[in-house]
Amino acid sequence: MSLVLAFDVYGTLINTQGLVPELETIIGGKAEAFSQRWREKQLEYAFRRGLMQSYQDFSVCTKDALEYTCLEMETPLTQLQKNELLQAYASLPAFDDVKPALAQLKEAGVQLYAFSNGAKAAVTRLLEHAGIHDYFIDIVSVEELQTFKPNPSVYQLFLDKTGAVKANTWLISSNSFDLIGALSFGFNAAWVKRSDKAIFDPWGMTASLTISELGELAEFFVSK
Ligand code: LAC
Repeated sequence: MSLVLAFDVYGTLINTQGLVPELETIIGGKAEAFSQRWREKQLEYAFRRGLMQSYQDFSVCTKDALEYTCLEMETPLTQLQKNELLQAYASLPAFDDVKPALAQLKEAGVQLYAFSNGAKAAVTRLLEHAGIHDYFIDIVSVEELQTFKPNPSVYQLFLDKTGAVKANTWLISSNSFDLIGALSFGFNAAWVKRSDKAIFDPWGMTASLTISELGELAEFFVSK
């Protein structure tokens, strides 16, 4: 049975802090904290919408979270600034290690998929913009089920769409909530710990593999 890697997108392949420079030109020193809070609220809104069974596209969570963050951080932005930020969010950059790592894995015959809470069209645009779309066999998006990771049904959707089996499937993610969701469902899970400060939620589980950048995936999988 061949190895299947399911890559989380936002925060793993794509840098969700990529708008900090743009934010700095608008709100100065608050930019980094603003960007982090925006991301936290975006995820919270997705989780809550999943629980409430009131699905809206991930981009709606992003937009609503931007509004919330402006209010909480007392940072009034104009409608034009908000629109520009949301447009830029749709073409956030990939991390530098992503392209070479995907190229190496694909070359070695590993099956690569993108697996995201984002809508398929939005993820397609992001990956195309970052020049990494063609490394993936397909993009599996939660939008078909109208709920979000870490709902276990979404991990099942991944298997259904790809024909993969749990034992040979690895989630590759920087997001602890996603890794714990995948491990609980029975996938293997590799934690891309991009910062020394990143914390794995202390729920009594550990990632099957911990790496600091994607280049280490090839070492682990290709030499196997
Ligand atoms: C993703 C976000 C939630 O699934 O990280 O791409």
